[in-house]
Amino acid sequence: MENLLREERSFPPSPEFAAQANAGPDLYERAAADREGFWAEQARELLTWSKDFTEVLDFSGAPVARWFGDGRLNAAYNAVDRHVEAGHGDRVAIHFEGEPGDTRTVTYADLKEQVSRAANALAALGVRTGDRVAIYLPMIPEAVIAMLACARIGAPHSVVFGGFSAEALHSRINDAEARVVITADGGYRRGKPSALKPAVDEALAKGTPVEHVLVVERTGQDVPWTEGRDVRGADALAAASPEHTPVDVEAEHPLFILYTSGTTGKPKGILHTTGGYLAQCAFTHKHVFDLKPETDVYWCTADIGWVTGHSYVTYGPLVNGATQVLYEGTPDTPGKDRWWELVEKYKVSILYTAPTAIRTCMKWGAEYPGKHDLSSLRVLGSVGEPINPEAWMWYRRTIGADRTPVVDTWWQTETGAIMISPLPGVTAAKPGSAQVPLPGISADVLDERGEPVPNGGGGYLVLTDPWPAMLRGIWGDPQRFADTYWSRFPGMYFAGDGAKKDDDGDIWLLGRVDDVMNVSGHRLSTTEIESALVSHPMVAEAAVVGAKDDTTGQAVVAFVILRADALERADEAGEGEDVVAELRNHVAKEIGPIAKPRSILVVAELPKTRSGKIMRRLLRDIAEGREAGDVTTLADSTVMDQISKGMQR
Ligand code: WT7
Repeated sequence: MENLLREERSFPPSPEFAAQANAGPDLYERAAADREGFWAEQARELLTWSKDFTEVLDFSGAPVARWFGDGRLNAAYNAVDRHVEAGHGDRVAIHFEGEPGDTRTVTYADLKEQVSRAANALAALGVRTGDRVAIYLPMIPEAVIAMLACARIGAPHSVVFGGFSAEALHSRINDAEARVVITADGGYRRGKPSALKPAVDEALAKGTPVEHVLVVERTGQDVPWTEGRDVRGADALAAASPEHTPVDVEAEHPLFILYTSGTTGKPKGILHTTGGYLAQCAFTHKHVFDLKPETDVYWCTADIGWVTGHSYVTYGPLVNGATQVLYEGTPDTPGKDRWWELVEKYKVSILYTAPTAIRTCMKWGAEYPGKHDLSSLRVLGSVGEPINPEAWMWYRRTIGADRTPVVDTWWQTETGAIMISPLPGVTAAKPGSAQVPLPGISADVLDERGEPVPNGGGGYLVLTDPWPAMLRGIWGDPQRFADTYWSRFPGMYFAGDGAKKDDDGDIWLLGRVDDVMNVSGHRLSTTEIESALVSHPMVAEAAVVGAKDDTTGQAVVAFVILRADALERADEAGEGEDVVAELRNHVAKEIGPIAKPRSILVVAELPKTRSGKIMRRLLRDIAEGREAGDVTTLADSTVMDQISKGMQR
């Protein structure tokens, strides 16, 4: 980390880039002079309102903010119809590339027809404004269409990542009380069809309020069918009218719920509303990526199951009328140059991806991007976790030919849109730092006592003023919302991240300071994985830590104590390996394959304080191959010796 803060390289924008950029330094000045006026201006310029607003921010119900409260609009109208009305119906909205190589071109006019049909189909299944709809789909155009169809009728969607298990899907459906699930037979992953529908059946078998399942056909594989409940997507769309009038909603009408891991075992349903969220998505997408909708081809590699897919695949780009690439599969199918082949093929000019992907490509080697013409690229973005300066430099040099600006964008599911990031035509970029709050955004780094740290100091990242895309709460749990984010530093939003200010006052993010891990840019809760492990009959106790990993940022490492009978059986049968494999699969089944521990160590004891709190710090030392640190507060100081000895066995 010390290393990182001595990073002195800086890459100012080229004069040519700065001259054509959407954003200039004046943007910061305008926002600083009148923050609310600035956001009102953006909201009016970037969105079409069916009823203009007269009030900008109302924070009298803090910590729940209202933005543009008396305005009315529709998200799908803003993302689709108005572009067609403005004469851009022929512009490509989505260049879809399936993993097997099949392609589809979806123009804004096509999108309008398909979203309208889907909205009518949902209405025919009984979905009304305000009802929740769960979406469990692969990365195909229908994922975007489904989200927009929900938005069109004002039915908040809850997208569940296709890699999550039936168990995870079940708890999310029930928490949001979804009436309909939109899914597919399957999707293509690593060269073969992978089924999705069976997980929906399994989730629904556990009991949910779901009345209908709309099944999109993607792979054509056989799927179990429940007559009366399941509806074939193609039939429903064919029967539906291509005309649909978008439902006007209040600016604060819920747009979606998206579940994310917190510090307890239960995922939080992060609630986002319509007007402020869309305004900030559109603003950030336009300025951070310098989007020119007439000429750019934009590609964000995130799955719609994560917030990045919501804000920077569906809403930001489409509200801005962008042309984008949507790719279904993995970066190494069929070859390790698939991404670069796509950049060349579609002449992608703006690429937005995650540090873990960049590090993976780095590991595969420069020969793969080297096989392709990447000269169309002009802006590169990064999101999801701190990007180490080496990966940042590789991204700029190898992918961006040492010419393209790189923007490291810090934000969260909760913030809804980008908060801290360089502006590519303005900021002299420093490899590894997200640097400055965007115009209209206020952030600071505080010490333990809540005092701002001076330049050179480190502490906790907070957001000091409400912002338009901020979460409006945790679905069904206002108290948890207040406790989690607003109690550590009263009146300020505590993000859960550690940060430092360098000598110029630029912000460097240092990772989570709570029990949340970041594996490949995906948020996982230590407690949630621990709960999954102890739900297995063989496990008595479990402790999970995030250990540093060169590719994935962090990796899940679990320490488990087996029940005495299970231990005996495993020892007798010499089945230690099998136990570990079984537990890893159990976690995949309970949460999803992304949560599978990289390693599981069977131990006799866990290090605990006298009050019984597990000291994860010591376990992290072990998991990262260090000598365990200070053990003086342990109830039994020999425990760490036993664990280290066990490791050497
Ligand atoms: C957490 C939020 C935002 C979309 C993807 C993740 C970490 C995110 C950065 C960055 C350092 C980052 C933080 C944050 N994070 N972007 N540019 N530099 N850390 O969304 O799952 O809600 O996770 O990801 O720790 O709190 P998320």
